[in-house]
Amino acid sequence: MFTMKPIGFVRAPYTETKQIPKGPGARHEAEGTIEIVPEFEAGLQDVEGFSHLFVIWVFDRAEGCELLGVPPTDDRPHGVFATRSPRRPNPIGLTVVEVLGRDGRNLRVKGLDMLNGTPILDIKPYLSGIPAEKLRLGWFGEAEQRRAAKDHRE
Ligand SMILES: C[S@@+](CC[C@H](N)C(=O)[O-])C[C@H]1O[C@@H](n2cnc3c(N)ncnc32)[C@H](O)[C@@H]1O
Repeated sequence: MFTMKPIGFVRAPYTETKQIPKGPGARHEAEGTIEIVPEFEAGLQDVEGFSHLFVIWVFDRAEGCELLGVPPTDDRPHGVFATRSPRRPNPIGLTVVEVLGRDGRNLRVKGLDMLNGTPILDIKPYLSGIPAEKLRLGWFGEAEQRRAAKDHRE
């Protein structure tokens, strides 16, 4: 077992999960702030040089765990490790945000998909760029194709 403590908290426009875009075609454009606690502020040095960051956080308001579930982007069940469900054995979230700026220990960011007050465990620079032709999107890609075909028919 291990213990972690938050390095900061999110200030986001969302107070309820239903306000966060989800389902087919959802886009995450919400802006807000990641407030780093004073003891870790020095760790932000040079972070504003990156356009995007990985933010690792806790689904602190998730209820229980579900190993198989139907995501909002599909009508079929999938294993939790093939989804981004909040209801996981270890309720850890991962979001890529765009850096808008830094004011001391506050990072202004865009692309939030978590509730206001969500605890942050870590931040890392986003460096990876996997070429599109090498990406396989599994059930998600298939669901998107079905949706595109349906939109085309209607
Ligand atoms: C589908 S998850 C994806 C989160 C992250 N991008 C990931 O992949 O780990 C996003 C959803 O988690 C839920 N959520 C957001 N913040 C939460 C929190 N602090 N506790 C519990 N659920 C949360 C909301 O329903 C939101 O729509």
